Amino acid sequence: MLSEKSAATVRATLPAVGAALPAVTERFYAGLFAAHPELLRDLFNRGNQAAGFQRQALAGSIAAFATHLLDHPDERPDVMLGRVAHKHASLGVTAEQYEVVHEHLFAAIAEVLGEAVTPEVAAAWDEVYWLMANALIAIESRLYAARGVAAGDVWREWTVEGRTEETADAATFRLRPADGAPAPGFRPGQYVSVQVELPDGARQIRQYSLSGAPGSATRSITVKRVRGEAPSPDGEVSLHLHARVREGDRLRVSAPYGDLVLDASVLDGGGAPLLLASAGIGCTPMLSMLEHLAGAGHRAPVTVVHGDRSPADHALRADHAALTAKLPDGTAHFWYERPEPGHPGDRTGLVDLASVAVPSGTRAYLCGPLPFMRSVRTQLLGKGVAAADIHYEVFGPDLWLAHD
Ligand SMILES: Cc1cc2nc3c(=O)[nH]c(=O)nc-3n(C[C@H](O)[C@H](O)[C@H](O)COP(=O)(O)OP(=O)(O)OC[C@H]3O[C@@H](n4cnc5c(N)ncnc54)[C@H](O)[C@@H]3O)c2cc1C
Ligand code: HEM
Repeated sequence: MLSEKSAATVRATLPAVGAALPAVTERFYAGLFAAHPELLRDLFNRGNQAAGFQRQALAGSIAAFATHLLDHPDERPDVMLGRVAHKHASLGVTAEQYEVVHEHLFAAIAEVLGEAVTPEVAAAWDEVYWLMANALIAIESRLYAARGVAAGDVWREWTVEGRTEETADAATFRLRPADGAPAPGFRPGQYVSVQVELPDGARQIRQYSLSGAPGSATRSITVKRVRGEAPSPDGEVSLHLHARVREGDRLRVSAPYGDLVLDASVLDGGGAPLLLASAGIGCTPMLSMLEHLAGAGHRAPVTVVHGDRSPADHALRADHAALTAKLPDGTAHFWYERPEPGHPGDRTGLVDLASVAVPSGTRAYLCGPLPFMRSVRTQLLGKGVAAADIHYEVFGPDLWLAHD
């Protein structure tokens, strides 16, 4: 909780600091990477940096956290903190690195806001920073402990046991621990970070949802190759995985993290009706959830919704349909912008839930591009699904939080 004195100062300066945050974070990253070039090369996503996405996510989260502290002084915004902490844990972020970030963030604040940063203002925002940082550090240390690893020690070598081309642009990599140990379990919907060494020596990290069954002896990730649309370049890591990684190769993979998971209350005792809505490569966490539900003999209604460009572009389409069909009360609805003959049940166009029954008490899990998730969320709210029962995963920095 913020001290009363700091709360008054943060309230008075929030509009000015909020407006300056984009400039502050730009200066912050410039200073951080000048002092620690290895962080840009081997930890941060340099594509996001170049495109400015991550800047917005960090700025948005600090402003949202400060606002939350003022509006709800007795509550911790656990959903927001949880998402960031899971991402940090998948990257192996440690408590000491918060000191480094603090140093460069506050140097940037002083530089951008100049004399407006009186000692009182600096102290109040310092308190905001450490409230957020310490909350994140505490969650991250619990996440490391739960996986039985020392803080930050999340990386292991895995062998690519098989590779399957799913569509022209998506391939599944089946992985087994290189040391022969059994593959540790994960919760349906979680992801891993994968670190690859690129031709210029940078070791870039990206996240991939685990698309296979949580209890199986191997782990699977399904990666879509990101094709750049001029002037944007092709995606670095997805292109590397597609072009270079074959059966028998090694990959450096983190422990599994992510908080878009089927929680125990859904799975225990029959559970609530579920709706699993995805678009494009956003189907991967849904496949792992479906594998789990089918394996557990789940009997409650499960509505599966997916949108894609065409059936040929729909990665894991056959598994998506077959796993849904295994559920006694499972129904799949697939929409394609360009349908193909021979699939009579398919629908044409964008996902439209008007004719889809959504039972009361439904819990929804969404994954796909932001416009898709916004549209599905609006449709679900219109059908009476409670806002608190709509969970989502973004395959990039969470700009939904930054803009809402
Ligand atoms: C939790 C989570 C789970 C995920 N699960 C999956 C999954 O199961 N399967 C999957 O395929 N993906 C998944 N992703 C996405 C994945 O992590 C990567 O973001 C994706 O593979 C693209 O990475 P890349 O290195 O190929 O592209 P990047 O190099 O990171 O590029 C990303 C985008 O930025 C643009 N860009 C890069 N540099 C610039 C520049 N200088 N100027 C302008 N634009 C630029 C590129 O053109 C591209 O459109 C997931 C992401 C998250 C966060
Ligand atoms: C209070 C301090 C911090 C805040 C508020 C913060 C906030 C965030 C947010 C909001 C994201 C995006 C999460 C998402 O939507 O996926 C993120 C990602 C990330 N954070 Fe932090 N963070 C903090 C500290 C740190 C520290 C100490 C490090 C390590 C040096 C770090 C490294 C990263 C990295 C590497 C990513 C992923 C970025 C990318 O790959 O583009 N963060 N952080």
